[in-house]
Amino acid sequence: MPGIIENWPVWKEFGITPEENTKGPDFANAKAEVIAQYGEEALRKSWLKVCKDLETLTEKLSTMGSDSIPTFHMKEIREHGLSDEQQARLKSSGCCVVKEVIPEAEATSLFQDLKHMATENKEKIPGWPAESPAMLRIYNSPTQLAIRTHPNQILLQRTLNALFHDESNETSPEPLSYTDGARIRPSGLKFLGLGPHIDAGSLCRWADPQYRKVYEHIFSGSPELHDAFDLGIRKDADQYLFKSNAHSAVFRSFQGWTALTPTAPSAGTLMLYPNVSTVIAYVVLRPFFSPPANEEDIMDAGKWTFDPESSWFPGTMKDQSQRLSPTSHPHLRLKECVKYIPQMSPGDTVWWHTDMCHAVDPEHNGEGDASVVYIAACPTTPINKAFIKTQLQASLVGKGPPDSPDVDVDERRLKGYKGFDGISEAGKAVLGFGLL
Ligand SMILES: [Fe+2]
Repeated sequence: MPGIIENWPVWKEFGITPEENTKGPDFANAKAEVIAQYGEEALRKSWLKVCKDLETLTEKLSTMGSDSIPTFHMKEIREHGLSDEQQARLKSSGCCVVKEVIPEAEATSLFQDLKHMATENKEKIPGWPAESPAMLRIYNSPTQLAIRTHPNQILLQRTLNALFHDESNETSPEPLSYTDGARIRPSGLKFLGLGPHIDAGSLCRWADPQYRKVYEHIFSGSPELHDAFDLGIRKDADQYLFKSNAHSAVFRSFQGWTALTPTAPSAGTLMLYPNVSTVIAYVVLRPFFSPPANEEDIMDAGKWTFDPESSWFPGTMKDQSQRLSPTSHPHLRLKECVKYIPQMSPGDTVWWHTDMCHAVDPEHNGEGDASVVYIAACPTTPINKAFIKTQLQASLVGKGPPDSPDVDVDERRLKGYKGFDGISEAGKAVLGFGLL
């Protein structure tokens, strides 16, 4: 079935023994604060409920392929928006593919421009990982700016942001554009560096009191009331409490990328766990419980013991995204429930909720480069406005985003750099010119 992972990649496992960087005083304090605030009884009640819900969810997902990821067409969204039924599917799965956001010929031409620029400036553009730099830390190339300011992108991001609600009048779905990098992954390049993980910080989900509030219903015994689309609480959460290149300072309602070349399963694409609320509930509860000694009992949530003592958060490192693995998070049945997204053509986009588990395809057996530009949907919030303003000030003098301070390249000096002239008014608005 398309989308099913036949052979689980040899990604790193977490949860056999604690590693030094997954425990310590910051971890102990965060754990103690959550327990003091919500108590053992509520945490245990949620743990049992969430593990029970996972039984049904994982059973369902294990039989589905990439059809578990809703697919929409830009034309349809442009003409009618998303229907109530489509919105419900998107909110429940937390992800979607939107086809033909950029016309294919235009996307292909933009890829050629980016590739040419990357080749011309090979020595100057930093890449990651160092041994095979496929993730390019370039932010305002003509290709990226053209796509970030494309009318379809703006409309689509507004549509996605509007799935979130906030009654404070301090936010709006109007998109602000976060500058992120690009990827040109040559055929044959294996990459095991980004197994199942969740971005938007890691330990800060428990350590920041406001971020913790996002999961209040989960911690207080009523995970069924958790609203993954409540921007009113989320807008003030500090994702950047533990500063690191792996964490973004802005709130991205949906992370996303736009394909510049064809991609497919095992050909340099993305994998998603197409559920948001139940998975994140399990992830935030997991550090409070220890597995039973007998491995045969591991899937029996009632046999896990409440553990207030250990300061170990499996898969949680302060400077990394939240990592997940079959050993550390067994009830998620990752091997059966993480799915390849469908085949993508140049100009197609994929979007996944800020709390969603995802992974980068370890294989690229396709022909040619697998190339994407990372373009997320960011609503207008006080934190995002402040960030996008400083980001634009940095961009205008050739620098990368303020949450990637180690990138020391003046993009204005790169061959092929064109700057911000000629960008539409609507495009300038999403780039933050109105905030200067
Ligand atoms: Fe990620």
